[in-house]
Amino acid sequence: MRKKIVAGNWKMNTTVQEGIKLAKAVSDMVSKLDNSNAKVAIAPPFTHLSEIAKVINPDYICLAAQNCASEEGGAYTGEVAPAMLAELGVMAVLVGHSERRAYYKEDHNTLAKKVKLVLKNDMKPIFCCGEVLEERENNIQNEIVSKQLEESLFHLSSDEILNCIIAYEPVWAIGTGKTATAMQAQEIHAYIRSLLINKYGAEIANEITILYGGSCKPSNAPELFSNSDVDGGLIGGAALKSEDFLGIIKAF
Ligand code: 13P
Repeated sequence: MRKKIVAGNWKMNTTVQEGIKLAKAVSDMVSKLDNSNAKVAIAPPFTHLSEIAKVINPDYICLAAQNCASEEGGAYTGEVAPAMLAELGVMAVLVGHSERRAYYKEDHNTLAKKVKLVLKNDMKPIFCCGEVLEERENNIQNEIVSKQLEESLFHLSSDEILNCIIAYEPVWAIGTGKTATAMQAQEIHAYIRSLLINKYGAEIANEITILYGGSCKPSNAPELFSNSDVDGGLIGGAALKSEDFLGIIKAF
């Protein structure tokens, strides 16, 4: 059965010292949960990873990164290679977050290369997809998401796709306080799963975790996560407060 996952994307927030405190608090709280059904991951900024790796309990929390380079190494000033992340104990890497697509103009070729490199370094890509408000208003969200998956993920083999996590994040719900309704989330998650079934077959598609992201909080997480194709959440703002993040984890 596919894994349930709650992952916190800290974005460009916290100093290293604040991050260590937050990570410790989350790790302590999660290790005290009797029977959490969800795997928990946190994705702090690059600068925090090696310090945070030392303070979290790896039996309960896994470390993720928010991005990586699309090249293996060399003269790429300011970039961080996937191998460098793997060396720090990073288990998963966000690829194609809407903020990377919008502000840093990451295109599908770049994302496809990142996905491959993350896998090559034995980490899991958390591949983000989702439509902007205008696309939702024109009811073309399925076409948009399908294109994003086709262009940057569906070049993978069956073995490779089994190591990927998909995060559906409607851009209009990110940081806006507007959450997709449980029905909207289930509909598009089921659609994403149908694309996976067409491409890789039902057995593989049913093993792939599909997360929802966008203004997820303790109050709406239970309803969102109760849908059969919503396998957890990718959490932004609420991941910066240990109590809120725990509240979301407890929704499982
Ligand atoms: P918010 O939870 O702050 O809306 O952010 C979601 C997100 O972008 C996670 O990657």
